[in-house]
Amino acid sequence: LWQDVPLAPPDSIFKLTAAYKADTYDKKVNLGVGAYRDDDNKPWILPVVKKATQILLNDETLDHEYLPITGLPEFTAAAAKLILGADSPAIKEGRTVSVQTISGTGANHLGALFLSRFYKFNGAPKIYLSNPTWANHHAIFKNVGIEPVEYPYYDPKTIGLDYTGFIGALQEAPARSVFLLHACAHNPTGVDPTQEQWKAIANVIAEKKHYAFFDCAYQGFASGDLDKDAWAVRYFVEQGIPLLVCQSFAKNAGLYGERVGALHVAPPNKETAERVKSQLSVLQRSEISNPPSHGARLVSLILNDPQLFGEWKRDIETMAGRIIDMRNVLYKLLTEELKTPGNWDHIINQIGMFSFTGINPEQSKALTEKAHIYLTANGRISMAGLNSHNVRYFAESLDKVVRG
Ligand code: LMR
Repeated sequence: LWQDVPLAPPDSIFKLTAAYKADTYDKKVNLGVGAYRDDDNKPWILPVVKKATQILLNDETLDHEYLPITGLPEFTAAAAKLILGADSPAIKEGRTVSVQTISGTGANHLGALFLSRFYKFNGAPKIYLSNPTWANHHAIFKNVGIEPVEYPYYDPKTIGLDYTGFIGALQEAPARSVFLLHACAHNPTGVDPTQEQWKAIANVIAEKKHYAFFDCAYQGFASGDLDKDAWAVRYFVEQGIPLLVCQSFAKNAGLYGERVGALHVAPPNKETAERVKSQLSVLQRSEISNPPSHGARLVSLILNDPQLFGEWKRDIETMAGRIIDMRNVLYKLLTEELKTPGNWDHIINQIGMFSFTGINPEQSKALTEKAHIYLTANGRISMAGLNSHNVRYFAESLDKVVRG
């Protein structure tokens, strides 16, 4: 039995964490997985999460009963307000459907599964993904029989947005195509459209009656401001564009392993919303029965208590601020001190947890083999892996591989 099962390659991101852990070199650096680290390279439990955990521990009314199939209602309602805005027309009109999911990955999966069952695709089911995107997007859609196709997004010449290519793909795609859009802090490039560009993108999407499948894994990490980072999603809702949003609290609440997330769908009216919710419940029931409670309770406390919410915002500023500092330090080291060949403006222009350095796969491999620096082959680095102790070592190593 199972002799014919082919050996699959390890996951491109998780294999880096394993290799880094196994490496005994004292100057090793992990710039692979997008997970926040403090200046001492330690995972950071947000102070507000520590506080909320204590509150839960002292709450004797809590038990380990099942949550409803669609999750903790006070969590999903507050999570919807966080991304869509408290005054969102979709929320006011009672036409949002929010389901608690196994973090952002679960939200992407449930959204994809729902589309595979109920979306009226124009021909064979396809999802348009940015080139490049988070590698897991490809697998998630393939798993439910939706074929991933790519739209131009990143321009290697400018190490910035291929705006013309992006708009062109939106125009050329058949009407009612589904486009996956990163709500903010694009993974892996750190390149986001400007608000003016988002408006033009929204115009074409509306004209062509495309469906916007937003993935929002980094709210707060792009600008340090939760509302600013939700701008694109909120603008699309205001424009009446049909959409859904996958939301993760892994990064912005540092709750990676707790798997807290939500899928929000904004159908055109309340009655449709009810039908959509009923089908999402059926799908969720057959897959996970009902979602886990601990992380959702933590986030619910933080979102629903004004004081804790304020503390959370400050914690997010701390994380986003440290990453921005690292961008500036790295930029200065490369441009002023080491005078590394090439233009490095993208290091400070890109936003969020990642930087797309522009180095090629051979250079990326050389960084790992010669300097014990772990990063994905496409040249993406997780800025959160840099700190005041290792940024110089990284800059010097990068300088060496760039000079060849
Ligand atoms: C990443 O891109 O590094 C993160 O989103 C972690 C993951 O699940 O891949």
